[in-house]
Amino acid sequence: MNVLVAVAWPYASGARHIGHLAGAYLPADIFARQQRLLGNRVLMVSGSDVHGTPITVRAEAEGVDPQDIVDRYHGEILRHWEQLGISWDLYTTTGTENHAKVTQEMFLAQFENGHIDKRVSEQFFDPEVQRFLPDRYVEGECPYCGYAEARGDQCDNCGKTLDPIDLINPRSKLSGAIPEPRETEHFYFRYSDFNQQIRNYLDTKSHWRPHVLNFAKGWLEDEGLQDRAITRDIEWGIDLPVDDLGPGKKIYVWYDAVIGYLSASKEWAASETNPAGDPESWREWWENPAARHVYFIGKDNIPFHALFWPAQLMGVGNLHLPDEIPANQYVTFKGGKASASRGVGLTIADALDMFQPDALRFALAAALPEQADTEVSDEEIGRRINEELVATWGNLVNRVLSMVNKNCDAQIPDTPGSDPEDSDLLAAVDAAFVEAADQFHASELRAALRTAMKTAQATNGYLNATEPWRLQKTDPNRASEVLHTALSAINGVRVLFAPFLPWSSATLDEILGVPSGWKREPLVPGRPIGKPTPLFTKVDLETSDVEV
Ligand code: MF3
Ligand code: ZN
Repeated sequence: MNVLVAVAWPYASGARHIGHLAGAYLPADIFARQQRLLGNRVLMVSGSDVHGTPITVRAEAEGVDPQDIVDRYHGEILRHWEQLGISWDLYTTTGTENHAKVTQEMFLAQFENGHIDKRVSEQFFDPEVQRFLPDRYVEGECPYCGYAEARGDQCDNCGKTLDPIDLINPRSKLSGAIPEPRETEHFYFRYSDFNQQIRNYLDTKSHWRPHVLNFAKGWLEDEGLQDRAITRDIEWGIDLPVDDLGPGKKIYVWYDAVIGYLSASKEWAASETNPAGDPESWREWWENPAARHVYFIGKDNIPFHALFWPAQLMGVGNLHLPDEIPANQYVTFKGGKASASRGVGLTIADALDMFQPDALRFALAAALPEQADTEVSDEEIGRRINEELVATWGNLVNRVLSMVNKNCDAQIPDTPGSDPEDSDLLAAVDAAFVEAADQFHASELRAALRTAMKTAQATNGYLNATEPWRLQKTDPNRASEVLHTALSAINGVRVLFAPFLPWSSATLDEILGVPSGWKREPLVPGRPIGKPTPLFTKVDLETSDVEV
């Protein structure tokens, strides 16, 4: 099966924090890795979102070019993906020629299909700096919930997407002046053409997470899909494919960013990393009804992915719609939403300084905000690493590999177990593959991690019950049977953990061989087992930077 793993495009406008990581990138990577092990053809794409006022506001504040901001943060984000082991097929940017071309082609196709028209509307204008003020150039009170710090494009409090002109007590971010409404001409996408189609589409998604489905359906019931401007009075962005608006207008960032999923698929297909070598192979994901498209995003992005992007796709026709949108809720720190700009919570850079990448991945995966906002703290991350990852899984592997090294001539013994307790343990490991596969399919990654943990605990329980360290003296043959069984179990459990722990899994691949799929494989008797080094180090909660 062809699976598209589509991951939200982070703005290249600042440091990303571990709320973003737990919200979208980590779950996407865990899911993609499991799907590959399952034998699916996975295409996992995303990139840096380089347009829009988040970039230009920052550039103006620093007195540099928007491109400088983009280069700085795109570079930083790329380094973090590498350190964390996020296994992109392609991580690109919306600043490529390819992306501009695909965006313009989509615009023209929708235009020809009658879903784009031109309208005059009022937008805020700053009388002091003599400029229109799109999106985040205006701040004020949210017209829906009254939140005082709403940005012109979206309210962080109630999640509504906004039009700056509707803000109460608006002020210009450029000069602090009170902006004045002025007429300006823009292209509109006729989202309202798709109300019925989107309703029918959502009716097929009754299995979605309740908070995602309720948000999308509630939107249709409350205000319905409204036509929205897809161009802006701004210099930074993608050129329009038609010139009848005159200069100073560009395509709106939210119209173009979601198109990145398609443009990145095309860029990947035409690149050297495509094993098929066929630039048209993107069609096997996008023009194939049997493909499965799974979008990993944070909850503030739900309207764009569950409503607007499907409508834009319908406006072209014949392109695959999102099948699953397992949007995550927020990670909170001391009760507040993580925010790098407000200094709440750890940035990815901070977290990578404090924790090993696999250990960080583990602790965040155990606390993914799948159903509700989830509180995370440095201390909790450290505790999970020490008490769960190291104590259960790390020590199990270390213990068994050391015993095999010492007691079985440093090689995998050819002594399969003969007792029911041996086959019971292995049957439990095999059953866990079925259980976890269902959990992965449903994007319940926390549950899948618990399933892996449970089998590690069962293996520990088996060792405590059989005590091979004692058998070694009384019944060495039974001792090697027990070690063979425990190692067989580990050979399965490590595959269950592999999507979560890529770095330590690679170490185990060297010792036990590379797994060929989502299953427990037989051991290779005689394979040398050198002296193991611990897979993980404990976090020193006293002396490290961890706040306790
Ligand atoms: N850049 C947006 C954000 O950080 C997300 C864009 S997701 C996309 O919220 F698909 F629209 F690109
Ligand atoms: Zn609000």
